[in-house]
Amino acid sequence: MNSSCTAQKLNGKVAIITGGASGIGEATARKFAEHGARAVVIADVQEEKGRQVAESIGSDRCTFVKCDVTDEEQVKSLVKSTVEKHGQLDIMFSNAGTVSKCPQDTLSLDLDAYEKLFTVNVRGMAACVKHAGRAMVDAGDRGSIICTASVMAYCGSAYSIDYTMSKHAVLGLVRCASKGLGEHGIRVNCVAPGLIATPLACGAFGMSREELEKRFEDDFVMKKSGYLKPENVADAVLFLACDDSKFVTGHNLVVDGGFVPRGL
Ligand SMILES: NC(=O)c1ccc[n+]([C@@H]2O[C@H](COP(=O)([O-])OP(=O)(O)OC[C@H]3O[C@@H](n4cnc5c(N)ncnc54)[C@H](O)[C@@H]3O)[C@@H](O)[C@H]2O)c1
Repeated sequence: MNSSCTAQKLNGKVAIITGGASGIGEATARKFAEHGARAVVIADVQEEKGRQVAESIGSDRCTFVKCDVTDEEQVKSLVKSTVEKHGQLDIMFSNAGTVSKCPQDTLSLDLDAYEKLFTVNVRGMAACVKHAGRAMVDAGDRGSIICTASVMAYCGSAYSIDYTMSKHAVLGLVRCASKGLGEHGIRVNCVAPGLIATPLACGAFGMSREELEKRFEDDFVMKKSGYLKPENVADAVLFLACDDSKFVTGHNLVVDGGFVPRGL
């Protein structure tokens, strides 16, 4: 989109996006740049893909930093290097996430896989909120932190217990952090996407994008409007990142096209 015809909702802002090399994170990096963000830092474990996305957005405003969110030191250094290079951190979109390779049901729950997933989806999210929050407090009490939860954060699942538990935990993290950081003028919210055919979801179901969209199309109340896309979630993240939502905190913004998870 031509930035000259876009309202510049993030003029001069500095943002970090974890999991920004793909899917929802990539779409959000593009959206933030279109809306005038001065610096968008993509943080991901996928180095080649991350660099390509940053280059395609433009090296003048988007850069890639290799960061594994499971390692607190890497998260700390990501935040520190961003503030050193750009002078501030206004927005943290803590979005990196993963799924277990095999279905996880109650009776066959693989606790090693569960622990691995929690290290990314819960510990990683908490590390990003903690270090972004510290930088925002140090810089004079301002900023917006957004985490990626899921529709699975508010319903049960017979087959992906570990993922569902982890997204419930993200909701808890956001509710707690919004209380703790609110007095500093820092807002903490999350988005809860419905099913989107990104590499994460396609990998989990072993399906191509087309197969996945077809398989679940009847689960979307709004199916006549087409399939839910990463860009639709990016629009919601933009809202939570910018001043349009300046009194919104502790909120879970559901973006699911009326998705009713069946058979998950
Ligand atoms: N696709 C869906 O249906 C869906 C629905 C609800 C929520 N979500 C959530 O959306 C978020 C983004 O996922 P997506 O669907 O865009 O998938 P994706 O696979 O396109 O992107 C996920 C990104 O996270 C990165 N990542 C994974 N582990 C990491 C780590 N330890 N450190 C840094 N980066 C890491 C991956 O390399 C990848 O680039 C996740 O938190 C996911 O749980 C996805």
